[in-house]
Formats: sequence, C-alpha cells, structure tokens
Amino acid sequence: MKKFTSINDIQDLEMILNEAIQLKANPYSFKDLGKNKTLGLIFMNPSFRTRLSMQKAALNLGMNVIVLNINQEGWKLEMEDGSIMNGDSVEHVKDAAAIMSVYCDIVGIRCFPELKSKEADYSENVLNSFLKYCTVPIVSMESATLHPLQSFTDLMTIKENWNKPSKPKVVLTWAPHIKALPQAVPNSFSEWMCKADVDFVITHPEGYELCEDFTNGATIISNQEEALKGADFVYVKNWSSYENYGSMPEVKEDWLLTNEKVKGTNKAKIMHCLPVRRNVELTDELLDGSDSLILKQAENRIYTAQTILKKMLVAP
Ligand code: CP
Repeated sequence: MKKFTSINDIQDLEMILNEAIQLKANPYSFKDLGKNKTLGLIFMNPSFRTRLSMQKAALNLGMNVIVLNINQEGWKLEMEDGSIMNGDSVEHVKDAAAIMSVYCDIVGIRCFPELKSKEADYSENVLNSFLKYCTVPIVSMESATLHPLQSFTDLMTIKENWNKPSKPKVVLTWAPHIKALPQAVPNSFSEWMCKADVDFVITHPEGYELCEDFTNGATIISNQEEALKGADFVYVKNWSSYENYGSMPEVKEDWLLTNEKVKGTNKAKIMHCLPVRRNVELTDELLDGSDSLILKQAENRIYTAQTILKKMLVAP
C-alpha cells in the first residue's frame, strides 16, 4: 500500500476490517515486521489519539517512531511550486518531503483546513504536496477534508458491536459547538458508511449540508427526531457550513443529544471520535452511559493504524 488518504485506497473493505479485528486479538503477531524501519509523523495541528495510537501501532510492529510538531518546532513550510521564497516561509515542502523520505520508511501527516477558502482546503494542497514529493508511503492522519483512520476505526467498532444478520441503521447527527470545526470527520464517516453494509442516515440543521461528493448514497433527513427513529448506532459530530464555507449558521432548535432523544432509537450505541466538549456537543449521561462506544473507538484507533502500517511494510 503506497498511500492511505481515503477509503479509495482500500481494495477490499471486508477483508481489511477482518485484518484489524485479527490484529486486535493478537497485537504482537507481527512484532518483528517493522524492525529497523522508521515511522515519521508530521503534525501541523494538535492531536491526542492519532499521535498516541500511531506510535503504539508502530511499536506493536517493532518500528521506531519520530515525531515533528512542524508548526512549533520546524521551519515554516512553503507549498507553492516555483515560488520566490522572500516571505516568512523558510523551507520548501519539496525539500522537507524528500528529506523525510530519506529518514523514514513511512510518513504520516496531519494537516487541517484553515476554513477560510473552500477551494484551497478542498484542493488538499498540503497533503498532495507531500504525496508528490515523498518517495515513501504516506498515511493521512487527518487532512483538510477527510480523516480515514478515524472512519476505518468507526466502521470496525460498528462491526464489532453488531451481531445481527440484518443491516444496522447508522445515523450521523450534527451537534452544537462553540467554534467552527472542519468537515473532515463527517465527510469521511459518510464516505465510509456509504460503502459499508449499513443503512446510513445523516441529520443536520439547515445550512450544514455536507459536500455531496462524500454523501452520495446517504439518506438525509432534516428532522433529528425522525432521523433517530430505530437507529442502532448514533454518531455525534459538529461541523461548520460547507456551503457558506467555515461559517456557523444560526440554529434555533435544540440539537444536543440526550437520553430523552435516544429513547426513539433501537437502544442505539453512541459514538464520537473525540475530543468532545462535554455537555456542549454531547451530554455526560450519554458519554458515560452503558451504550457509549467512545472508549472502544479510541482503543480501536491502534489496530486500524497498525493494519495500515502493516500493509505498507509488507508491500510498500
Ligand atoms: N479523533 C482524533 O483524531 O483525535 P485527535 O485529534 O486527538 O488525534
């Protein structure tokens, strides 16, 4: 596997899900595969789970790991080809990516959107620059538009928690927040759910429609109560507007999920990628309740990362 930046890099979804579940059952079964190999992680933005789960996954495979918080510890990167670098950027991505490829056998990159220009963010300029100039496999650790490691984990967690022959109903519901967040997690979750063996529904207030490139195949219901009826899994996430890019259109109705609202579901399991602003995005009662899957999701981040790294080590 040369890159993992979206579900399109997965050849057989069922097979890779089973591989992750098998690695979870026996995490050290490939503990020598990564001997003398180095994983390099470049963070342009903060992270808790992605950073730690990638490191743990690499260690389980016997790899060494180096981490660069590039915005705090590195030189400011220039992304434009052919630019005259007489401004505040000091190092060109062409050089940085080439050098990472000498130091590392696999490179992970986290590069959030700026939420200022839809065209700039959805062009995935930063991720694509690393893809262009790195000569080793690249893993997205969340880009401007997608978070494939999270979505792989979310689907793995749904599979582990569903043992009926029928398809589960999975609902992605928008949640309130105090600041504008990227669309990467909901875009990615939608893209994965639309290809998975589930009935997938998205519910959000007016003005929060996601990019149709990622929601093709989903049922979109604006009434949250209606959408939640009979749900087996409810995935809670805030995102900012795609249409009026990066804005937070006013929402008059109450979109905070509560125990009361969940009564209309099929005793739904509650999911969130974390970090979560408790009692703003999702209530304590649901986050800490017996149907919450949030810790299982966070745990599974290790095994989906390990599956992707293993694939890159076996056939780079
Ligand atoms: N879910 C997730 O990606 O968590 P972090 O932002 O903490 O890595």
